[in-house]
Amino acid sequence: MFKQPKSSLFLFLFYSCNLSAGPNQAAIASAHPLATAAGFEILAQGGNAFDAAVAVSATLAVVEPSGSGLGGGGFWLLKRAKDGKEIIIDGREKAPLAAHSDMYLDGQGNPTLKLSLDGPLAAGIPGLPAGLAHLAKQYGRLPLSKSLAPAIHHAETGFEVGDHYLQAIASRESILQRYPASADIFLEQHATPKPGFRLVQPDLAKTLRRLAVGGHAGFYRGETAKQLVEAVRKAGGIWTLDDLQQYKIVERQPLIGEYHGIRVVSAPPPSSGGIVLVEILNILSAYDLQQFDSVTRKHLIIEAKRRAYRDRDLYLGDPDFVEIPTKRLTSPDYAAGLRVAIRADHALPSGSLSDTPGINPQGDNTTHLSIIDRQGNQVAATLSINQAMGSGFVAEGTGVLLNDEMDDFAVSPGNPNAYGLVGGNANSIEPGKRMLSSMAPTFLQTKDRIAILGTPGGSRIISMVLLAVLDFAEGNGPVSWVNIGRFHHQYLPDVVEHEPDALTIEEMHGLEKLGHELKATGKRYGNMQAILWDKSTGQLEAASDPRGEGAAWVRK
Ligand code: GLY
Repeated sequence: MFKQPKSSLFLFLFYSCNLSAGPNQAAIASAHPLATAAGFEILAQGGNAFDAAVAVSATLAVVEPSGSGLGGGGFWLLKRAKDGKEIIIDGREKAPLAAHSDMYLDGQGNPTLKLSLDGPLAAGIPGLPAGLAHLAKQYGRLPLSKSLAPAIHHAETGFEVGDHYLQAIASRESILQRYPASADIFLEQHATPKPGFRLVQPDLAKTLRRLAVGGHAGFYRGETAKQLVEAVRKAGGIWTLDDLQQYKIVERQPLIGEYHGIRVVSAPPPSSGGIVLVEILNILSAYDLQQFDSVTRKHLIIEAKRRAYRDRDLYLGDPDFVEIPTKRLTSPDYAAGLRVAIRADHALPSGSLSDTPGINPQGDNTTHLSIIDRQGNQVAATLSINQAMGSGFVAEGTGVLLNDEMDDFAVSPGNPNAYGLVGGNANSIEPGKRMLSSMAPTFLQTKDRIAILGTPGGSRIISMVLLAVLDFAEGNGPVSWVNIGRFHHQYLPDVVEHEPDALTIEEMHGLEKLGHELKATGKRYGNMQAILWDKSTGQLEAASDPRGEGAAWVRK
């Protein structure tokens, strides 16, 4: 039943000494064909994977406005082929300087419904434009004027939207109707558009041009900054010019773990993605999962998720503000302690660990892109404006749709957010603090195989990436990872959320018998974008989640 893990030090030295030539082809997987095409256009102009990541990120901001945008943020995980440098660009949004811990609470200390989700008060200070400028300047070969050109083109000339857009708009129609600048851009005669609608965004094109010309300052100072602050304040928000002028990305060391000889590289705090992923894998690492019947296997995965997500709620927040016990939470010994209390014949109710109430998690938004270029430079980036269409608020004159990431803070510690996540003081609101994320852009590495992957999906992101890592460990490729039926547990609420077709009848009965409460989601969720480079065969594969409308291509 138990496997002996290989020494992490051995793996580190092995992989550090094993820098090699690239795949001689490139692969890009993203949530929209126009974004994938933009990445290849930039590679064809002599750009590298980092320039392509700028182009794909910026194009997604235009063609998939429900998931990410200049008004949002994200994490770009990079690996540079020439020296093996791995780094994560933290472009997560920050709380405005005038934010405070009870800004969303009523007189009785209860959260005021929707204030952290709808409208300009819900918006953190965006990090995506700063991330693009940094990526281009520090790692790219091309100027922003080139790598932003495809996004500017699509914003100016427009494109025909797909079902994904129409569904996102329908789900947020009433909030978009509230703000004229939002309604003018995204709605058709003040309602959800009909199929065939062309989305044209001339103001966004102007804002992108200013970013292309001025770099970081082209967004965070001057005309764009002035327009953003004026519009936000006029509509009841609290942004100031200082907020924008002070915004900076942070380069952070990725979170590194190991599972059955696979090196796992993912997002560190202020995302919980890497820590929770590695903690779950550490708990599972002593089991030989393939030896078990499918009910026991899923039960053990659920029990591991329950414990790691609990630690998310208890300990994680912005590392620039709170001390995070990363070493302890990601240590195999700590996982061994948690594993001792897992029973193969029974689920442990989360209520026996805590009685904090939860609500049903939602969230199928955000976006992800994965890239490898001919030289072997790698990018996995997960980008977000939080819920579909973010806060629903476009700052007039800018075309920029603002995020509603403030809801990712523990708005009222102990009370669940839109994803049902219950945060503690570590993730309370403070001026200039980054809200905790679940985004988990991830690289996997063995002697022969390199994987680049990630997905949107709020609190379910880590669960989805975990299932893909376990599938990678079984020797399967990206088409399999993106197709896996998904099930999720996040400690609270104490339910196993599963896609309608993810579990067989026997598995459902078996899990219920062990004490799990099951809840089928209305529809399938996630939108994974994944790449596998098998060095032993030279084969490069890419896959885009069938749940979305993305495109994954491999080209010479
Ligand atoms: N807004 C979703 C996340 O960052 O986890």
